[in-house]
Amino acid sequence: MNKRNKRIVISISSVLLTAAAFSINAANQVSNIDDNSFNCIRDMTPVRHFYVDNLLGNTQGTLAVANDPEGAVYPEGSVVQLVPTEVMVKREAGTFPATGDWEFFELEVDEQGSTITKRGFTDVNNRFGGNCFTCHLPAAEKWDFVCESGHGCEPIPIDHSMTGALQRSDPRCGEPELQDGDTFALFKLNSMVVLGSAKKWLEDLF
Ligand code: HEC
Repeated sequence: MNKRNKRIVISISSVLLTAAAFSINAANQVSNIDDNSFNCIRDMTPVRHFYVDNLLGNTQGTLAVANDPEGAVYPEGSVVQLVPTEVMVKREAGTFPATGDWEFFELEVDEQGSTITKRGFTDVNNRFGGNCFTCHLPAAEKWDFVCESGHGCEPIPIDHSMTGALQRSDPRCGEPELQDGDTFALFKLNSMVVLGSAKKWLEDLF
């Protein structure tokens, strides 16, 4: 092989090696999700009243679907969050067809970061005992399980003043950036949680 050909071979192999390293890294990021995969919700990209991101760096692809008025299927690696403690992540194609490859997560969050307390596909319940998959299912066909408002899911009793206040007080982001009305929204939310747990406690008791 002459010198020029050798150089070409070397540069082609380095391109291939880089591509291989990139795809291994990419595969790791969606299959090896751990506590460190989730950070301050406000560092994600806002869409209307929720936030999106993409673990593979394809935030543009995720945003395009979130903004598609006809609805579409979210690309692999998509992360969607409305509140700091609940996350949907689009896993590798074919991982779990029933949920459209979405994995549901429940987190504990504090100043130190996130701890995954529950994760899975059809069997994850939130802290109010509701099943993530069942509630999101009505939006499956057209909106790839993303409920928002008007996508067919039963509305939740937590309104956008409360979800906004939760986003602005995510402890992983440092100091809260509260707006007018947030303290009252958080107070209402807290009362609902306390009443909700009292109701659950009474139901369990009788
Ligand atoms: C009682 C039904 C219900 C349960 C249970 C539920 N969700 Fe939702 N979820 C909704 C509705 C309705 C919305 C849209 C709320 C809105 O924007 O007004 C939503 C919003 C979301 C969003 C923002 C994107 C979207 O779909 O609008 C994510 C992410 C999410 N939920 C994840 C979860 C996870 C994870 C769980 C379980 C740990 C869960 N949800 C449990 C009904 C539910």
